[in-house]
Amino acid sequence: MAFESLEAALAARQEAHLYRQRRQLESAQGPEVRVDGRSCLAFCSNDYLGLASHPQLKQALIEGVERFGVGSGASHLVVGHSSAHQQLEEALAEFTGRPRALLFSTGYMANLGVINALLGRQDAVFEDRLNHASLLDGGLLSGARFQRYQHNNVDGLRQRLANTEARRKLVVTDGVFSMDGDLADLPALADAAAAADAWLMVDDAHGFGCLGTQGGGCAEHFALDTEQLPILVGTLGKGFGTAGAFVAGSEALIETLIQFARPYIYTTALPPALAWATLTSLKLVREESWRRERLQQLIRRFRQGASQLGFELMDSCTPIQPILVGAADRALALSQALEQRGIFVSAIRPPTVPEGGARLRVTLSASHTEEQLDRLLEALAQCREQGA
Ligand SMILES: Cc1ncc(COP(=O)(O)O)c(C=O)c1O
Repeated sequence: MAFESLEAALAARQEAHLYRQRRQLESAQGPEVRVDGRSCLAFCSNDYLGLASHPQLKQALIEGVERFGVGSGASHLVVGHSSAHQQLEEALAEFTGRPRALLFSTGYMANLGVINALLGRQDAVFEDRLNHASLLDGGLLSGARFQRYQHNNVDGLRQRLANTEARRKLVVTDGVFSMDGDLADLPALADAAAAADAWLMVDDAHGFGCLGTQGGGCAEHFALDTEQLPILVGTLGKGFGTAGAFVAGSEALIETLIQFARPYIYTTALPPALAWATLTSLKLVREESWRRERLQQLIRRFRQGASQLGFELMDSCTPIQPILVGAADRALALSQALEQRGIFVSAIRPPTVPEGGARLRVTLSASHTEEQLDRLLEALAQCREQGA
């Protein structure tokens, strides 16, 4: 079979300025990276706390490899569940104040796994319109009645919940919205879910480690316990600097996932050395609150500088600080103009964000210095002057 129809779709994507290209990173994550042979300052990683290449984490990974080898060799239910995984699950349960936690190989798999283990055709799932693709895909795959409510519109959600007769009801939201950086109104969502006898599931991929005094994320920030927020998902490849994800909640929830979550059951366990290294991330996240304080200083400085230059920012108090541009080609042009000035910030375009909502997703890290941030602002000022 020929591939003409694929080629036509690829050409159409190119035409619309929506074509994606991978860039090659030749260095470790950090403020200064080498991309495609050129050194530049990066402002688009999710390594918010600057842990991805922290010396203690590298050492812990090496130690983990020496103790547990490289591959896990099997799925958790066969012979792949090591004492390193177990120890990390127990530490994450304790950290999040939940009875239990369960590790998944990625956040994408955790989200698919949870929604599909809990829901079937007699059920209903309610999702914020701006939820991450993995949550939307999980809801669609489950076969449950799938409803999207307007972004953070809790009244709209309440109405939908009042009109369903589904067996199980699951409300699903990002904690920190990945492309906008704003927070879900979790206290109100928790109230709405409780009033309708629905479960609330929060994917805190971008809040975990960054929000809360100890880095416990949205649950700590809003002080929501297991009763109010029964299904908490966190990822480990962003603020925590390693890889993987976990779900935290009740004994019944975690046992249900072990029995029924297909992306948990039918996959090779995360390398145990990564779980071992993540125990060190957890220690650093908890103890080094200066990383979160530093992020807050950088966020304030960036917001002040960029708005003075006339850029349109979003309602975000998190390290995700998008500059809203609008058209995809303009977002690409601004990204390219910055790159010519030695600054790497990728353009985010539809379908990742809504049509007309293309942006530069600027992200800040505790490892950025004020001087580096000022270089970004200076480059933005030059782009502005030259009409990019
Ligand atoms: C909100 C959100 N949830 C889940 C994921 C997926 O997590 P992972 O990269 O571990 O698959 C991401 C991004 O990667 C995300 O932004």
